[in-house]
Amino acid sequence: MRRKVFMAKIDFGGIKEDVVTSEEFSLERAQKVLENEIVAVLGYGVQGPGQALNMVDNGVKVIVGQRKGGQSWQRAISDGFVPGETLFPLEEAAEKGTIIQFLVSDAGQMATWPNIRPCLKEGDALYFSHGFSITYTEQTGVNPPEQVDVIMVAPKGSGRTVRSNFLDGSGINSSYAVYQDYTGRAKERTLAIGISIGSGYLFPTTFEKEVYSDLTGERGVLMGCLAGVMEAQYNILRKHGHSPSEAFNETVEELTQSLIRLVAENGMDWMYANCSTTAQRGALDWKPRFKEAVAPVFEELYKSVVSGEETRIVLEANSAPDYRERLGKELDEIRLSEMWRAGTAVRSLRPEMRKKTQTSR
Ligand SMILES: NC(=O)c1ccc[n+]([C@@H]2O[C@H](COP(=O)([O-])OP(=O)(O)OC[C@H]3O[C@@H](n4cnc5c(N)ncnc54)[C@H](OP(=O)(O)O)[C@@H]3O)[C@@H](O)[C@H]2O)c1
Repeated sequence: MRRKVFMAKIDFGGIKEDVVTSEEFSLERAQKVLENEIVAVLGYGVQGPGQALNMVDNGVKVIVGQRKGGQSWQRAISDGFVPGETLFPLEEAAEKGTIIQFLVSDAGQMATWPNIRPCLKEGDALYFSHGFSITYTEQTGVNPPEQVDVIMVAPKGSGRTVRSNFLDGSGINSSYAVYQDYTGRAKERTLAIGISIGSGYLFPTTFEKEVYSDLTGERGVLMGCLAGVMEAQYNILRKHGHSPSEAFNETVEELTQSLIRLVAENGMDWMYANCSTTAQRGALDWKPRFKEAVAPVFEELYKSVVSGEETRIVLEANSAPDYRERLGKELDEIRLSEMWRAGTAVRSLRPEMRKKTQTSR
């Protein structure tokens, strides 16, 4: 019997939204919903292992689909998946599963889709952790058949923290969406997976909203903007004669080791309230100027996401045969820059790191 899902109405800054936690949708209920399902996790890269291992620990039947020969295949074996029993090539796992989690990279989804589509059976659920392939279907060619559910749970964190937070007894928040409900069970399947992978709380979205916000976030504050503003400040300090150690401490180390932790605990105002009055005054005065300066860049970024231009760039770059080589070079450029080499030195001087070096001497 299908049961109604109760939601918690939470006030987010004056706007009430429905969310689901394990109080509204218990793990026992998730296990019940999934008791006759085989979850096939296709792709054992970053999200694959996090979600697969959490579900295994939560008593869900999980098999892994992964192309043979590479590191990911080996990693699945060392994590306990057994070739021919719980570990298969992609297509074989897709055929065996009833909920097919498409967790190869986004460019990999475009490349493998022609082989995966024929493996889907009537009543299966095709699951994504990103709205990418479906929203930009004209570019990716991912067009699910009508007789399957199409669902999404998108953890708002790296697959690594999906696993490590689960092991610590915490969780990563996830958004969820149903794009196509063929069986009439799409929503309960979605929430059951969301709870089984260890989500903190689940909030509703659409495939389109998820991908627009996600691409903006990672290009913006979470990664692109973060690295960009850090470099800009470091370079100004260096230009004016400050040492690398001083410039790095004032730009990165103080943020990661102290201030951002206060923001995580109790919000921005609380961090401001726990800094010197000199710092507070300056931060309050300069915040609007930075906000104004970057707002047009964010506007441009959002447009580029919505137009599909960001997708075009990603698919072109990540489908290139020398993709990993080129990526390695770009990351090396960051790692070998003075700023991030200074960072390595600063980290090595953290007391806990010095203790480790002393004991290994
Ligand atoms: N990374 C995250 O933490 C994160 C967070 C939220 C959502 N997501 C979403 O989760 C999904 C999976 O992302 P991910 O970051 O976990 O992926 P990833 O680590 O980039 O994916 C690598 C996996 O895809 C396989 N793969 C790539 N290209 C392939 C191809 N042409 N043929 C067959 N297999 C191929 C890889 O196999 P090999 O190892 O053999 O190359 C590996 O199993 C994506 O939709 C992503 O947007 C990711």
